[in-house]
Amino acid sequence: MPATLKPSTKVFKLNNGVEIPAVGLGTWRSVDKDSGYKAVEFALKHGYRHIDDAKLYENEEQVGKAIRQSGVPRKEIFVTTKLWNTDHKNVEAALDESLKKLGLDYVDLYLIHWPQNTDQEVDDPSKYEDYVETWKQLQKIYKEGKKVRAIGVANFTVNKLEKLLNADGVDVVPAINQVETHPLLNHEKLIDYLKTKNIVLTAYSPFGSDKSPILDNKTVKEIAEKNGVDPGQLIVSWLVQRGVVVIPKSVTETRILSNFETFTLPQEDFEALNKLESKEGTKRFNDTPFNNFDE
Ligand SMILES: NC(=O)c1ccc[n+]([C@@H]2O[C@H](COP(=O)([O-])OP(=O)(O)OC[C@H]3O[C@@H](n4cnc5c(N)ncnc54)[C@H](OP(=O)(O)O)[C@@H]3O)[C@@H](O)[C@H]2O)c1
Repeated sequence: MPATLKPSTKVFKLNNGVEIPAVGLGTWRSVDKDSGYKAVEFALKHGYRHIDDAKLYENEEQVGKAIRQSGVPRKEIFVTTKLWNTDHKNVEAALDESLKKLGLDYVDLYLIHWPQNTDQEVDDPSKYEDYVETWKQLQKIYKEGKKVRAIGVANFTVNKLEKLLNADGVDVVPAINQVETHPLLNHEKLIDYLKTKNIVLTAYSPFGSDKSPILDNKTVKEIAEKNGVDPGQLIVSWLVQRGVVVIPKSVTETRILSNFETFTLPQEDFEALNKLESKEGTKRFNDTPFNNFDE
């Protein structure tokens, strides 16, 4: 029997009580020909209440304009943007620039985009791992209570989070850790660790990023077909069922609509996706020369 799909209304509570909609719209590469504006406008019109942006995506103006012109009250939309690597020494100035581009007074979530500062030409990565000092600047802004409702990190491993949480002067626990997550990078251990710290995981690149290779995986396709859903709906639903926030990106109207429709996976299919990485091997689609995922 085909599964019953419904527009996602699920929200998760962050460690400071703020609620985040479980399914949001990603906006990386949504930049040409006003595609960020159009995608966000369309998504908000059709039920999305969570938009993920970043300074790096160079579309904060168009995304912000769509948010402001959507007709949806600002307080009903959860907006994320991120601190880029070159701005670790000047967090508040970077946030102010993002707010100005977005045309908003505050964002719901501000993330350290990567645990590395690349504003200096240094060859030794350990020399630019200053995310503790960066985090203290975010903490200060958060405690002032005006420009951000929650703060978090992205691309942090357990070791990096441990270093952060144990550092002197750190007394705000990140609300979110946003990392690449899909059936070939399921982060079972990281998710278990985050639960013990009351940190929610947001899954980025849930379809394997550009050209969505995860949606072409044979097992993913078979399970989707069995449930009468498309592969995108299967992956989004599987992640939400794991207690994870997910931010699929699309600039295609039919996909923006379909990715927002979720269902409950039968246990055997849920387990089959949980086991896919151990069967087929780990695959990371977003690697960078400046990050070290082993620590
Ligand atoms: N924190 C970080 O470091 C970080 C890194 C990467 C991404 N992110 C965030 O996470 C978001 C999502 O990740 P992502 O953009 O890398 O990739 P993704 O969401 O895994 O995949 C996007 C790709 O899938 C296609 N697609 C979307 N829905 C589809 C469907 N139902 N069927 C077939 N193809 C479909 C899109 O094409 P069309 O657009 O042409 O429809 C696009 O090519 C980003 O946009 C960004 O907001 C964060």
